[in-house]
Amino acid sequence: MILTSRSYDEYRSMFDLTDGDLTGVTLDCAGGAAGFVAGAAAGGAEALAADPLYASGALALAERLPVDLAKGYDMISANRERFVWDWYGSVDRHREIRRAAGADFIADLRRRPGRYLAGGLPHLPLADACVDLVLCSHLLFTWARRFDHDWHRTAILEMCRVSRGEVRIFPLVNMGDGEPVDFLDRLRADLETLDGVPSECVRVPYEFQRGADRMLRVSAADSG
Ligand SMILES: C[S@@+](CC[C@H](N)C(=O)[O-])C[C@H]1O[C@@H](n2cnc3c(N)ncnc32)[C@H](O)[C@@H]1O
Repeated sequence: MILTSRSYDEYRSMFDLTDGDLTGVTLDCAGGAAGFVAGAAAGGAEALAADPLYASGALALAERLPVDLAKGYDMISANRERFVWDWYGSVDRHREIRRAAGADFIADLRRRPGRYLAGGLPHLPLADACVDLVLCSHLLFTWARRFDHDWHRTAILEMCRVSRGEVRIFPLVNMGDGEPVDFLDRLRADLETLDGVPSECVRVPYEFQRGADRMLRVSAADSG
């Protein structure tokens, strides 16, 4: 997976977050090089991130990020028609937003390394019910050809375990071609009937990858 840096504002749109949603502690699970945790702190909200990537350390990530961002821009430029440009406005603006978010991430990682936990799904290095909201962007469903139904179910239950409130997952389509994930309905039914975890698919005010305009909202309060 190449690194990219989605911004705090992108997260607000991808997960349709209100100020009220961010009054507790928020976990960005699979935080990658996103600017969410840094942006939340700047706005007075409390957030932390988990990702196996953070074991690499700030120095290695600071060296790798510009190289990966450049690869991402090249890929997007070569496939412009696969993306909806309304949210960014232009290719240049997209590039600038991602560059700034990456700089925010690296600066925050250096300043507050304790906010970035090296660890990943399906076993997070966190206690039960220690955060209020978990956000998961571009890991589950995005990589549904790599991670199967059972892995997704275990991963969602793990995010529910650490959350007192909700888990939100975006997007709900496969990477690249944006095709719907074929096991999504069965997964939701299994979560509800076998695990007692209800969920709903909700339209959000963000679409960049064409067709990726919905999140899964999972009620963690009913789990466990
Ligand atoms: C496409 S990036 C998305 C990063 C960020 N959420 C965003 O939207 O910009 C996917 C991230 O998932 C992380 N990842 C891969 N396997 C993981 C796992 N098992 N648990 C948690 N994170 C994982 C990768 O290191 C990578 O940073």
